[in-house]
Amino acid sequence: MSPDLRCYNIADLRERARRRLPRGIWEYAERGVEDEVGMARNRAAFERVTFRPRVLRGVQAIDTSAQIFGKRSPLPLALAPTGAAGLLWYKGDLALARAAAAAGVPFTISSASTMDLEQIAVAGGRLWFQLYLWEDRALSHAVVAKAYDLGCEALFVTLDMPVPPNREYILRNGFGTPFRINARNTLDVLRHPRWLAGVMGRYMLDGGVPSQANLPDRLRAKVTKGAPPGALFKQDDLDWDGVKELRDRWPGKFVLKGILHPEDAEHALEIGADGIVVSNHGGRALDGSLATIEALPDVVQAVGGRLSVFIDSGIRRGSDVVKAVALGADAVLVGRAPLYGLAAAGEAGVSRALHLLKTETARTMAMLGARNFGEVDTSLLGRGP
Ligand SMILES: Cc1cc2nc3c(=O)[nH]c(=O)nc-3n(C[C@H](O)[C@H](O)[C@H](O)COP(=O)(O)O)c2cc1C
Repeated sequence: MSPDLRCYNIADLRERARRRLPRGIWEYAERGVEDEVGMARNRAAFERVTFRPRVLRGVQAIDTSAQIFGKRSPLPLALAPTGAAGLLWYKGDLALARAAAAAGVPFTISSASTMDLEQIAVAGGRLWFQLYLWEDRALSHAVVAKAYDLGCEALFVTLDMPVPPNREYILRNGFGTPFRINARNTLDVLRHPRWLAGVMGRYMLDGGVPSQANLPDRLRAKVTKGAPPGALFKQDDLDWDGVKELRDRWPGKFVLKGILHPEDAEHALEIGADGIVVSNHGGRALDGSLATIEALPDVVQAVGGRLSVFIDSGIRRGSDVVKAVALGADAVLVGRAPLYGLAAAGEAGVSRALHLLKTETARTMAMLGARNFGEVDTSLLGRGP
């Protein structure tokens, strides 16, 4: 049982996270791109989905478990990859992985993590690895091979950032990558002494600000220094043949993240993917993207159960998990929700976030008269306006 931290929903954890973090770090975790309408659209679309509950179904025992890639999971939910979690909490990647393992749900390690794969893998549990391709493709292949050797069950290749996103706020707040304490952000950092001592201070004692930890030593740059040539993410030239090559090299489950178009979902099937993530990167890539819960039904129809369909972007409540499954998702990924918990209280905060999502999911199912996810489908949804 996670301590309640006086946080009774994800929004409470979010507020606590916002207060703890320097503004620049908070903005990196929270904000979208350009006019930030995509993030709001994701939420508004979830809110527009309504329920049409059944009554008198005997809901004393609710089973929230689901199959993910043929294995039982206590919830149809996994932690999305989130780079730079280490700036929100000391060794934040490990705290996320540990809380996920304790809750029995999969954790996706980001290729932009600030701890290397071995250090995170000690958390155990069900681990997945997310890839952005480095300019040096051989390097990408080496990191992927390492992820497999360390027991990662699935490789997620993220496709919705072919070019860097337009984060105008970074130009203003002085917290770009590489991360540096500079004239513009010193005051911000000093105003958050708990973060300064508990996160930055501990890294300083450890020998410095965390680096792009998945790079080999010869290329590893501190996050405060620029990345050397070849060690930058670059996939503006990636095409279906390139993705197929990655598929053929990876013996485990292979997932494409950032699919919104049903024809791309069909391509994913053709190259032999085991899953796709209907995602707009939480509104952090293309501001004008349609909401993921709106994109989901067409994608589900196109793949017709031939691969696993995950969805993310905007999930903040257990009821969102139920809506996603009702509309055909096999499971959801959550990005910011656990990050809020992480920034609020480390591993305990992530556990709290997962506990809240689970109890809300169970309560929603009981209210709907659905005793397990086999009973959750579109018949429990309203018809819309
Ligand atoms: C701070 C932060 C860092 C992220 N880093 C990555 C990443 O390294 N790789 C990736 O594929 N997606 C990354 N994402 C996107 C998430 O995997 C996920 O698609 C998104 O957060 C889902 O939306 P949500 O935050 O509303 O749950 C990141 C998201 C956030 C908030």
